[in-house]
Amino acid sequence: MRIVTTVAEMQRVCAEFRAAGQVVGFVPTMGALHEGHLSLVRRAKAECGVVVASIFVNPLQFGPKEDLAKYPRTFEQDVERLTAEGVEALFAPEVAEMYPAGAETTVTVAGIGDRLDGASRPGHFTGVATVVTKLFHAVGRCRAFFGMKDAAQVAVLRRMVADLNFEVEIVGCPIVRDADGLALSSRNAYLSAEERQRALVLHRALGEMQGRIAGGEVSSAALMDAGMGVLKAQDGVVVDFLAVVDSGTLLPVEQVGPGTLVAVAAFVGKTRLIDNFVV
Ligand code: PAJ
Repeated sequence: MRIVTTVAEMQRVCAEFRAAGQVVGFVPTMGALHEGHLSLVRRAKAECGVVVASIFVNPLQFGPKEDLAKYPRTFEQDVERLTAEGVEALFAPEVAEMYPAGAETTVTVAGIGDRLDGASRPGHFTGVATVVTKLFHAVGRCRAFFGMKDAAQVAVLRRMVADLNFEVEIVGCPIVRDADGLALSSRNAYLSAEERQRALVLHRALGEMQGRIAGGEVSSAALMDAGMGVLKAQDGVVVDFLAVVDSGTLLPVEQVGPGTLVAVAAFVGKTRLIDNFVV
C-alpha cells in the first residue's frame, strides 16, 4: 500500500488510477480503525477497481473542550489492517499540509449542519464539511463510502455534494455492532467495563422504538416517550438528544415512515456516544 502525505501527490496517484480506467473507491477516516471502518473498505473493494483511504484526525471538527488531544491514534496497526484489506493507497497528511498557515476558507452547510449533532456540537459539521471538501479535492472523482453510524454526517455531506457539484457519489453503509449490540466506535476505547455495560442502553432504547414501529406505532411523540423511558431508567447516562427526523433534511417529523431517521446521542461518563436506525 502506497502511503501518501501531500495533497499534490494524492491528486497525481488518483488521477493515474482513473487514467488506467479504474473507478476509485474512497474511505475517509480518522484512524483507530475497527471493523466498522473495515466494513466500508470491504464494500469499496467489492464495488470499485481501486480503493484509497485516508487517516486524518481533523482538528477543525473538534470543539475546544472535546477529545482532540486524547483521540486514539494507532497508525501502525491501521496501516497493517488497510494493507491486509488490499487498499491501494493511504492518504495520511500532517495538520500543516491540510491547514497551512493563512488558510481562511471553510465550508458550512447551513441549516442541516446545525441539526442533531450539529446543534450539540457547534461548528462540528463545518469542520467535517471543510475537511471532506479538501479530501475530495485530493482524491478527485470517486465513490466515497461513509457509515450510517454517523447518519447526520451522511445527510450533511450528501447536501454538500449536491449543492457544490462534487464529482463524488456518497455511499451510505450499514452500522457494524458488537455481539451485544453496541455500535462500534473509536470512542468505545474510552469506556470502562462498567460504562460499556451502561452504554448498551442506547441500543436498547432504539430497539424499543423499532419494536413499537414494527407493531404499527407511527406517532413520533409516542415513540420519543417510549425511547426516553428506556434511556431515563439507566443511571449514569445523560441524554444529549433523541430525535425522530427525516433522514435527508434532519428536520423533525410528526409521523414515522420510510426514510425516517431515529437518532440518539448520550454521554456515558465523559464519553459521548451516538446510535440510530432508519425506518
Ligand atoms: P471516523 O469516526 O473515523 O469514521 C470514519 C467512517 O467510518 C465514517 O463514515 C463512519 O460513519 C464510519 N464508521 C464508524 N463506526 C462505524 C460503525 N460502527 N459501522 C459502520 N461505519 C462506521 O467520521 C469520521 O471519521 C470523520 O468525520 C471524517 C468523515 C473522516 C471526516 O474527518
